[in-house]
Amino acid sequence: GEGPETANVYDNCRGMLKVASMADSLDPVTLSRLVSFASDFEERTGDRCFMVNSAFRTYGDQVSIYRSYSETLGEEYASEGEEYARLYVANPGYSEHHTGMAADLAVVFDDGSSVPIDQYQNYSIMREMIPSYGFILRYPEEKVAVTKIGNEPWHFRYVGVDAAKEIAEKKITFEEYVGHLKAGK
Ligand code: DAL
Ligand code: ZN
Repeated sequence: GEGPETANVYDNCRGMLKVASMADSLDPVTLSRLVSFASDFEERTGDRCFMVNSAFRTYGDQVSIYRSYSETLGEEYASEGEEYARLYVANPGYSEHHTGMAADLAVVFDDGSSVPIDQYQNYSIMREMIPSYGFILRYPEEKVAVTKIGNEPWHFRYVGVDAAKEIAEKKITFEEYVGHLKAGK
């Protein structure tokens, strides 16, 4: 159906975020919380280094990503490519990138150098700070069996401060959190 209303990341980030694409957009509340986080993070660590690598995606975007992942390894390895895509790319129509409330972040410094986000020296500070801005790490390594998605240290999802804090404190996934809510716990 119709996509959500989104705001352009570059135009609304007050220079706090880098963008992989000038067209990247996010849910407006998600974006404003992400910008506040990036600003406070810079104050704390001195680093202004987050790049939004992927943000809101249409159904068509997700189809292209799924295809390009599964074809990356070439026809010879098509089954491995398909397996990789299945583990790291949600089926089109089922990605939370469609909500505009999920962002894949990378660490890229002003001189153009970069480091894988989970090897970034201040990643643990980031992880500690994000719940206060309403974000969770959505696909943790130790929860692959629950989420059915591979370890994605870069994928953050806005869920609101109360839910994010509870999820972080209890070390549970969004699936488990929703499951508890449904069970009235
Ligand atoms: N990489 C995440 C699971 C997505 O495609 O939505
Ligand atoms: Zn993602």
